[in-house]
Amino acid sequence: MQTQVAIIGGGPSGLLLGQLLHKQGIDNVIVERVSGDYILGRIRAGILEQGLVDLLHEAGVADRMMKEGHVHDGVELSIDDERFRINLKELTGGATVMCYGQTEVTRDLMDARKASGQQTCYEAENTELHDVKSDQPYVTFMQNGEPVHINCQYIAGCDGFHGVSRKTIPEDSRKEFERVYPFGWLGLLADTPPCNDELIYAKTQRGFALASQRSPTRSRYYIQVPLTDKVENWSDDAFWAELKKRLPADIAANMVTGPSIEKSIAPLRSFVCEPMQYGNLFLVGDAAHIVPPTGAKGLNLAASDVATLYKVLTRVFNGGDKSAVEQYSPICLRRVWNGERFSWWMTNMMHNFDEELAKDGSDRETHQRFMDSEIHYYLTSEAGQKVIAEQYVGLPYEDLA
Ligand code: FAD
Ligand code: DHB
Repeated sequence: MQTQVAIIGGGPSGLLLGQLLHKQGIDNVIVERVSGDYILGRIRAGILEQGLVDLLHEAGVADRMMKEGHVHDGVELSIDDERFRINLKELTGGATVMCYGQTEVTRDLMDARKASGQQTCYEAENTELHDVKSDQPYVTFMQNGEPVHINCQYIAGCDGFHGVSRKTIPEDSRKEFERVYPFGWLGLLADTPPCNDELIYAKTQRGFALASQRSPTRSRYYIQVPLTDKVENWSDDAFWAELKKRLPADIAANMVTGPSIEKSIAPLRSFVCEPMQYGNLFLVGDAAHIVPPTGAKGLNLAASDVATLYKVLTRVFNGGDKSAVEQYSPICLRRVWNGERFSWWMTNMMHNFDEELAKDGSDRETHQRFMDSEIHYYLTSEAGQKVIAEQYVGLPYEDLA
């Protein structure tokens, strides 16, 4: 098989890149380890920045989002039952976020891919990337017991944190930065009406909680849990009971509960791999960086990588400028580190770190006082609220030089 760009991974990064390249007449093949249905079964992000919304328009896959998605002008933070509304629209001069699930974005992209006629190889096993520093890189894998070989000019590693692309870069040619947090998020999806019009991020002595949503009839909730907790030991009833203790009392009193459609625990991690390019291989999205979910930046950072790589490859193939590839990593990393910092800061401010502090003997109460003062300052000053609003709606994408 022969293509211009081999894309490893058919999650949102790989599918969006494939669609944007196709629109520019650039041929690409996606190689994906699991099936399409398996990908659609993963419940992940729900909040899209304007930059991603614009990119979905550019890719020609925004119709359903514009009909079924909900624009949110604000977001709430609740600190020990005291509620603060961040008016995103007013504080940023007009910017908002779109509430539309990653699953739906992925479904729309899969439909567009089918219509485009570009090839996707699902259930590919033992994918390997070869000669990525040469002008003739290639990809091999097994499909239905048969070996497959794809010759290409560039490879986009869109294969997530556990993928093969990052590991293809020799250890002495990459540097990794990491922080693992001492707790996880237990998430529950239910066909119940959301408990509030806008999202509520809640900090309490019992730990963090988030009330999010997918539609007027589908809610998504999260609670902070110790890493030692097992999802099997959390009944739906236990989840709802704990959630109600962490959300503002009037919200909890009116909350509609119901059976879970999905329930899972996600660990929290900050991670960056530098650089994001090695020869003719580019790392995109979770393959290069992970953020803790507080602040909803994971999918949005993946999208800004895609926007940059799509512009770079368009310039290479349609503008004859091969040197554009050198701009990819520095442009992406500037925005990635900004998102990493914001997610780390929101995580620090909104979670209960008792366990970790107890372990290393730190003064728990002093830490708590600093964090309480920090959040109080940001939420009660207009300048502080502006900082949160500007970051939450997302910084603009940087253009190529
Ligand atoms: P992925 O979605 O991980 O897609 C990578 C794809 O590559 C997968 O389909 C995988 O099967 C495939 N793949 C892996 N290895 C190979 C291989 N060797 N060969 C071929 N294909 C391969 N972000 C938020 O903003 N909010 C959230 O609430 C949130 N929750 C999350 C919960 C979990 C459990 C996880 C893991 C992430 C969450 N995120 C969240 C982050 C967000 O979902 C990701 O940033 C986003 O999925 C990144 O998209 P991606 O396409 O780069 O990677
Ligand atoms: C969702 C997840 C997040 O991490 C977040 O900050 C906001 C919303 C969600 O799944 O809806």
